[in-house]
Amino acid sequence: MNKISGTLLNRRTVRKYISAPVDEKLLNDLMGMACRASTTGNMQVYSIIITRDPAMKKELAPCHFNQKMVTEAPVLLTFCADFNRFSKWCRQRNADPGYDNFLSFFTAAIDALLVAQTFCIAAEAEGLGICYLGTTTYTAYKIIQILRLPAGVVPVTTIAAGWPEENPDQVDRLPLEAIIHAETYKDYSSSDIGKYYSDKEKRSDSEQFIRENNKETLAQVFTDVRYKKADNIHFSKALLDVLNKQGFMNQ
Ligand SMILES: Cc1cc2nc3c(=O)[nH]c(=O)nc-3n(C[C@H](O)[C@H](O)[C@H](O)COP(=O)(O)O)c2cc1C
Repeated sequence: MNKISGTLLNRRTVRKYISAPVDEKLLNDLMGMACRASTTGNMQVYSIIITRDPAMKKELAPCHFNQKMVTEAPVLLTFCADFNRFSKWCRQRNADPGYDNFLSFFTAAIDALLVAQTFCIAAEAEGLGICYLGTTTYTAYKIIQILRLPAGVVPVTTIAAGWPEENPDQVDRLPLEAIIHAETYKDYSSSDIGKYYSDKEKRSDSEQFIRENNKETLAQVFTDVRYKKADNIHFSKALLDVLNKQGFMNQ
């Protein structure tokens, strides 16, 4: 197994870090690797905000529902979709940017996520632990204020990174055959669903999850507790509002 396949197959999210800092040069080198990720039209329509200052982390913590990684990780990275810089370049060079629309946001969000994930692979290969924070899209309006993001810039994900203080068990994945379709999409019969999700449902941590949340099935833990319809609607509206305010819904 080469180094990268070992890194990928053995990885797990790390949520506890020792207090040792992540060296500036190492972080910079990892950023250099991350920025070699593919990017739409080689435009690099993303920006990365590095947070090391404990006061800034404290300010950001509520945006991430006070998940402890925010204040405990030595480094927090907020990856932003960014058409601000590129549009400014266009205007300064007598070119008329047409990026104030949803497609452009989506393009820049894809770019930002590709660079974020490439950073994670590079960081994990160096032995660092990382955790994504999905809360970024829920409270983007507040993060925009704290990080002073101008129009054309929207935070799409945050990564906490540091030297691991834990080595948690790997969590499950669906079998590959559940995910992969040959040539065209083959829709799932109810017996396929039963087959593909049964290992996950049988796990002792899943059963514990069901018990702790007083639910009948694991799926109910997702629909009724973790990712509820009402929350999804609420945060969707908030995100659409952010896209509007940041100038991505003008056409
Ligand atoms: C977009 C995204 C958002 C996530 N948000 C959170 C989060 O807010 N808090 C957290 O503890 N883990 C978060 N995670 C980590 C996932 O829970 C984790 O990747 C998943 O449970 C699988 O575990 P593994 O990475 O150890 O394989 C997030 C992962 C992704 C990709």
